[in-house]
Amino acid sequence: MHIDLYERIWMWAAGVLIVLFLGAIVATAAAQAIQPPGHVETLDPTTIASHPEFGTPTLVTRPDGSVVVPVVAGMFSFTPDPIELPAHMPVTFRVTSADVVHGFQIVGTNVNVMAIPGYVTQVTVTFETPGEHTIACNEYCGLMHHAMVGKVVVK
Ligand code: CUA
Repeated sequence: MHIDLYERIWMWAAGVLIVLFLGAIVATAAAQAIQPPGHVETLDPTTIASHPEFGTPTLVTRPDGSVVVPVVAGMFSFTPDPIELPAHMPVTFRVTSADVVHGFQIVGTNVNVMAIPGYVTQVTVTFETPGEHTIACNEYCGLMHHAMVGKVVVK
């Protein structure tokens, strides 16, 4: 079958692009440990105020020194805030929302998850250097969305 030269060029170009895009997914998954979430946990968002973990979200230090931080996102703040954390220790954030969908992005790290009412989003990260990070909400959640920020202080 005869295929025109230009047609052949474009077929190869499309093939190269597909390989390139799939390669980008594999590269980010392997090199930067970006993965789809593998954790499904639900709760009743209407009872958050009396929830044992999220009612008064408090940082818990495990016996091995690692840390678990429950976080409630709500219009238009994060609780607790600021979050004080140790460096060089695995920190597991357990994030949920009290109202609408919010974002939970710790600027300068690869922590970037959604806070969804009714669900607990869990992500673990180790901060290697002390310093401050801004927590930004990156899902449009209402009039004061742009002002919804928090702070992580790594010591
Ligand atoms: Cu919360 Cu935007």
